[in-house]
Amino acid sequence: MRLGLTGIRKTVAPDAALSRARPAVNRGFRAIAFAFAGMAVSMSLAGCDAGAPAVAVDAGASTARASVDSAAAVVRVAAHEVTHEVTQQATPGGGQSRAQVYESVRQMTALGKQLFFDPSLSGSGKLACASCHSPDHAFSPANSLSVQLGGGDMHRTGMRAAPTLKYLQSVPAFAEHYHESDDEGDESVDAGPTGGLTWDGRVDRGSDQARIPLLSSFEMGSSPAKVTAAVRAAPYAGAFRTAFGEHVFDSDDATFKAVLQALETFEQTPEVFYPYTSKYDAYLAGKTQLTKAELHGLQLFNDEKKGNCASCHISQRTLDGAPPQFSDFGLIAIGVPRNRALPVNRDPRFHDLGACGPERADLKGRAEFCGIFRTPTLRNVALKKSFFHNGIYHSLEQVLRFYAERDTNPEKFYPVSKGKVQKFDDLPQRYWANLNTEPPFDRKPGDKPALNDAEIKDVVAFLNTLTDGYKTGN
Ligand code: HEC
Ligand code: HEC
Repeated sequence: MRLGLTGIRKTVAPDAALSRARPAVNRGFRAIAFAFAGMAVSMSLAGCDAGAPAVAVDAGASTARASVDSAAAVVRVAAHEVTHEVTQQATPGGGQSRAQVYESVRQMTALGKQLFFDPSLSGSGKLACASCHSPDHAFSPANSLSVQLGGGDMHRTGMRAAPTLKYLQSVPAFAEHYHESDDEGDESVDAGPTGGLTWDGRVDRGSDQARIPLLSSFEMGSSPAKVTAAVRAAPYAGAFRTAFGEHVFDSDDATFKAVLQALETFEQTPEVFYPYTSKYDAYLAGKTQLTKAELHGLQLFNDEKKGNCASCHISQRTLDGAPPQFSDFGLIAIGVPRNRALPVNRDPRFHDLGACGPERADLKGRAEFCGIFRTPTLRNVALKKSFFHNGIYHSLEQVLRFYAERDTNPEKFYPVSKGKVQKFDDLPQRYWANLNTEPPFDRKPGDKPALNDAEIKDVVAFLNTLTDGYKTGN
C-alpha cells in the first residue's frame, strides 16, 4: 500500500525553502500553500509578522489550522532568509519593505491572470492557456475531446488529456524514491516514484511547466520572441514594466522568463486554485451532512477490500490536520487501455509510456518507470469530461467500471482478437511487472467485481462532493 504525503517538517525544512533554485510551489506545502515568488512573502508574513495580513495561510485555513501551527516554527526559521533573498532579488543592492514585496506579488498575480487568458501569446493567435484549462471546469478543458487541438493551424493534437490546474500546490518535486517524513509515516518505507508536474512528473516548477505548452508545436506553438512581441503590444505592457522593472523588455529571454514567473504566480492564488470549498470539506469541518448515497460511496472508496481508492487517492486529513488532496502523487501503472482515437496511436509501434518516455527524456531506458503516470487529485473530478492520461473515458461511471472490472471482465475494455483479449494493449508485455496488483486490481476472470452497479453509483455520488463552491445549506 502506498502511504500518505510528505510531512510538513520535511517539506518546509529550511534547506528546501532556502535554495533559490527550488523554493517552489511544488515542495508539498499543502494547505499552507505558498507561491514561489509569493511563497517567500507568505512565509515571512506567516512566520515573522503577526500583524501582517495572512496571505497564503488563508488557504483552507479553517480546515488546516493545526498544520499551519505546526509548520510555523519551521517556517519562521526559513522566513528571514527567504525574505532577504527575495528582497535582494527584487531590488539588487537595495532594501524593499515587506509591503513592497507583497505588492509585487499582487502585481505579478494580476499579470499572470491576464497572460493566462491571452491568446496572442500563441503562434496561431488563437490559443490561450485558458483554452485548454477552463476556469469553469477547475482549469481542465470545457469540451470532451480526449486531447485538445492546437498548433499553428489549430488542428494538431498531443497525446495527453489536459489535467486540472487546481491543488497542484501540494505536488512534491519528483523523486524516484519517496520516503515519508517521520510525522506522517514510516520514513524507512520507499513509496516509489512520486511527484513532479504533468502526467509523467517531468518538471517541478510551474514556470518550467508553462514553457512546455508555450513552445510545443502541437499546443501554443510560440517562441520567446513571439511572446515578447505579444506582451509589448498588450494592454498590460505598462503594468508588466511596473511589476518587473524597466529592463524586462531588454531581451526576449528576460521577457519570457518574466511571463513564466507571472503565470506561475497566478497559478498559486489560493482562493482560485486551492480554496477547499467542496461539500466534502464542509463535511470534514462538521458543517454539513453527506447523503446516504454519498456516505456509502465514501465508505466504498476507503474500504481496502472494495474500491481501495483512498490507498492512492487519499481521503483523510493528514495527522497534522491538513485537508486531503485526494492523491498521494505516486506514479503508478494501472494499464489504461490504448486510446485508438488519438492520431499518435495510428502508429502501432508508438506507446506513451509515461515516466520512461517519450515525452519525458531523463528516465528513458529505465524499464521500471515504463507505463507509470502520476496519480491525479480527484478534487473537482466531476467537472472533467475526459479521464486518464490519454482521455480515453468520458464519464466517471466508465472509469469506475474500469477499476471494478479490468481483471474480471477485461474484454469490456481491451480489444479482442481471435477470441483472445489483448489485455494491457498500451503497455508492451516486458513492462507488465510494473502494473499495480492491489485491490481492486487483484482479481481474475470469474471473480466478482470489487464494486457492483449500485456501488459504482454511490462512489460517483461521493466523487461529486469533491467539487469546489459548495455552499452550506444547499
Ligand atoms: C493545447 C492545450 C493546452 C494549452 C494551450 C495549455 N495546456 Fe497546460 N496542459 C495541457 C496538457 C495536455 C497537459 C498534460 C501534459 C503532459 O502530461 O505531458 C498540461 C499540463 C499542465 C500543467 C501541469 C498539471 C499537472 O497536473 O501537473 C500545468 C501547470 C499547465 N498545463 C499550465 C498551463 C499554462 C500556464 C498554459 C499557458 C501558458 C497551458 N498550460 C496551456 C494542455 C494545454
Ligand atoms: C494503485 C493506485 C490507485 C488506486 C487504488 C486507484 N487509483 Fe485512481 N488513479 C490512479 C492513477 C495512477 C491514475 C492515472 C492513471 C493514468 O491516467 O494512466 C488514476 C486516475 C483516476 C481517475 C481519473 C482522473 C483524471 O483526472 O483523469 C479517477 C476518476 C480515479 N482515478 C478514481 C479512482 C477511484 C474511484 C478509485 C477506487 C475505485 C481509484 N481511482 C483507485 C491511481 C489509483
